[in-house]
Amino acid sequence: MTGSESVLNTVGEGPEESGGARAGQTLEGAGLDLKVDVPHPARMYDYFLGGKDNFPADRKTAEQVIGVFPNSRIVVRQNRTFMTRTTRYLAAEAGVRQFLDIGTGIPTSPNLHEVAQSVVPEARIVYTDNDPIVLAHARALLASTPQGRTAYIDADLRDTQRILTAAELHETLDLTRPVALSLIAIFHFIPDGDDPYGIMRHLVDLLPSGSYVSLTHLTADFDPAMREVERAYLASGVPMHLRTRAQVERFFEGLDLVEPGLQVVHRWRPELTDPAETAQDPDGGAGPDPAARAKAIPASELTDAQVSIYGAVGYKP
Ligand SMILES: C[S@@+](CC[C@H](N)C(=O)[O-])C[C@H]1O[C@@H](n2cnc3c(N)ncnc32)[C@H](O)[C@@H]1O
Repeated sequence: MTGSESVLNTVGEGPEESGGARAGQTLEGAGLDLKVDVPHPARMYDYFLGGKDNFPADRKTAEQVIGVFPNSRIVVRQNRTFMTRTTRYLAAEAGVRQFLDIGTGIPTSPNLHEVAQSVVPEARIVYTDNDPIVLAHARALLASTPQGRTAYIDADLRDTQRILTAAELHETLDLTRPVALSLIAIFHFIPDGDDPYGIMRHLVDLLPSGSYVSLTHLTADFDPAMREVERAYLASGVPMHLRTRAQVERFFEGLDLVEPGLQVVHRWRPELTDPAETAQDPDGGAGPDPAARAKAIPASELTDAQVSIYGAVGYKP
């Protein structure tokens, strides 16, 4: 999605151009308070990916994170291609037709529904996020194929009851049939005090047998500098809780791990990567755009320490 398609631009300047964005900026007509004076994970992620839907406070904290962990853009890019690979696997090989994606993020092509519907045009997708900027951009997520359907729920992962009882969920998905639940790069924003494993259990309990869960989670298992990343997020007011391999595995309790099990994400079926997603950018990956350089690095050349995010797909028997 380009800035010109965004709801933001219907109210004036795009965020990157409006360097002096005001605290408490709202989206006229939508009544959304973007709280642009504090960093938000969705907008920082957008910045790491080279997007334009971020504000000075997001860019400042993101640059601090890059300062302590220069591979940050590699992490988010590899995380994103894990999402597209697992979606392709779930639609093409596992035969899943319904997806519930919690922690969607600002639309970034290709979005989950675009990947799923390119394999199965009738696929149905429900997106969920708690950030008003994602809601503001939801139009791009609702551009379904005519045969399929997409919906958006404005909700917090911690409020599983709200998600599981939302009319949009039940109108879009048939919860008696298998669903792929995706929780990509979201649980590290849920500290232990918010009962992340209880949240996971509640969601998985609702899924019928034959369903799948794909999940990624940041870790400091391979590079202690990731603890500096955690500190930078916490210092800017964003909750962040890195977990070990054993702690990430615990999210999959009661599920069978699909081969190759829990991996640092670039090691999970790299052969399913669409060459277009790792294709060299016009500058050959050597130009001044650091987001483009991160995109251009083939997974086979990356180390676990550089990627530092676990991912797996679980199957509910
Ligand atoms: C790092 S982004 C990941 C985006 C996308 N899943 C991906 O991996 O490409 C994390 C997203 O989770 C959302 N998020 C964080 N905490 C959340 C919560 N408690 N409830 C709902 N969404 C949350 C953020 O707003 C952000 O859009």
